[in-house]
Amino acid sequence: MSFPKDFLWGGATAANQVEGGLMEDGRGLANVDLLPFGEQRYAVMAGTRKMLQFEAGYDYPATRGIDMYHRYQTDIALFAEMGFSVYRFSISWTRIFPQGDEAQPNEAGLRFYENMVDTCLSYGITPLITISHFDCPIYLVEKFGGWRNRQMIDAYLRLCEVLFIRFKGKVRYWITFNEINMLLHAPFMAAGLVFDEHENQEQVKYTAAHHELVASALATKLAKSIDNHYQIGCMIAAGENYPNTPNPADIWAAKEIDRESFFFTDVQINGYYSNYALKTLARKGIKLPIIGDDADILRQHTADFLGFSYYSSSVASSDPKINETREGNLFPTLKNPYLAASEWGWQIDPLGFRITMNTLYDRYHIPLFVVENGLGAIDTVEPDGSIDDDYRIIYLAQHIQAMKDAIEQDGLEILGYTTWGCIDLVSASSGEMKKRYGFIYVDSDNHGKGTFERKRKKSFSWYQKVIASHGEDLSN
Ligand code: BG6
Repeated sequence: MSFPKDFLWGGATAANQVEGGLMEDGRGLANVDLLPFGEQRYAVMAGTRKMLQFEAGYDYPATRGIDMYHRYQTDIALFAEMGFSVYRFSISWTRIFPQGDEAQPNEAGLRFYENMVDTCLSYGITPLITISHFDCPIYLVEKFGGWRNRQMIDAYLRLCEVLFIRFKGKVRYWITFNEINMLLHAPFMAAGLVFDEHENQEQVKYTAAHHELVASALATKLAKSIDNHYQIGCMIAAGENYPNTPNPADIWAAKEIDRESFFFTDVQINGYYSNYALKTLARKGIKLPIIGDDADILRQHTADFLGFSYYSSSVASSDPKINETREGNLFPTLKNPYLAASEWGWQIDPLGFRITMNTLYDRYHIPLFVVENGLGAIDTVEPDGSIDDDYRIIYLAQHIQAMKDAIEQDGLEILGYTTWGCIDLVSASSGEMKKRYGFIYVDSDNHGKGTFERKRKKSFSWYQKVIASHGEDLSN
């Protein structure tokens, strides 16, 4: 067998992209609720267009998600039917602490997640919980300015404490922050940051980054003190950056982009800021707000595994003129002439997946967990109701093969694989429903029109077979 016996197979979602049930059972408002559909979305995500409440004339897709708040039982039953042994989902912080600073958690919110965990366990599915998948209570955004303020650490740790106590003995795998490096690219969405016109955005982002890194280390410490079996992971949006040419200047440019992400995992896994990071920040006049025993905290409480998302590789040039032609919103890239791309321009690169995994493992030597991978595509429902998503099957088969090669040929330790959006959900970057990742189709359009009925796509039975064969049979 190529995959280890206890390798976990499953899928992943995030609360704000699936739940809906916006203000139900005492839930409070969060940054992720306030990302509008349409052209203002990127400015709001970037923290340059302040939108801390719903505004007339905008549609907010997270308010409905795919209505999983009311349908989680049937959705998890479908995951079980595919044979999932792991399901990665995230907590909506404001279900547990509606404002973020209450003395007591909201029992109804906790019960919802307990029901989700119990439903998973009843099918033998291991829950993998992301504590914060971009979530930040809007009250804390208003009160503290999001993660720019150190007081966020305590609020976050309260959330962690409540979860770690409640799910002791039921949950083993946790991720402290989804794609922690995203805060450099979408600071409001990822860290609740909104910028004043004249402030130094870089300074604010790295201040927030330090706070999240300390929070992540302290969460790891707390977890182990509550249950020594807890496995705590860090997570980044990964994807190798290739140089546009063999010109050493291009190779350097690509390396510098990779380092923007390694900035985070270096701390979370090695336990300290790398020299290049300290030098780069110092050159830019950016100060990290390291105080008290922060350095010891970071050093002592490092991650057990490295979770990452991989969708595609990127290409970078040292030439600013060439870089002007880069495309893509959150992680811009040049076109790679050797690769095909998805309908959203994301370049499809299974070997890049193997390269990325090797880079990460060579650098850190701790187990990897592939917690997001998948193809966002437009699906068509045929007149007979079937959805023939062969393009998705091909993408996933090639990427699973790359993972198999990384294990068999390169000897990498990989704990599991959760495909992104195992059920169709709202796209984080574009807010669209049309960009579908699922094995399960959800009948809803970009504006929530539809029955929300679930349908199995062709990839559903394909993934079922992949899991049943423990990754040996990838044929379509
Ligand atoms: C990751 C996020 O960045 O990529 C997910 O963790 C997101 O929340 C996924 O949905 C895919 O991106 P998109 O923009 O296609 O939804």
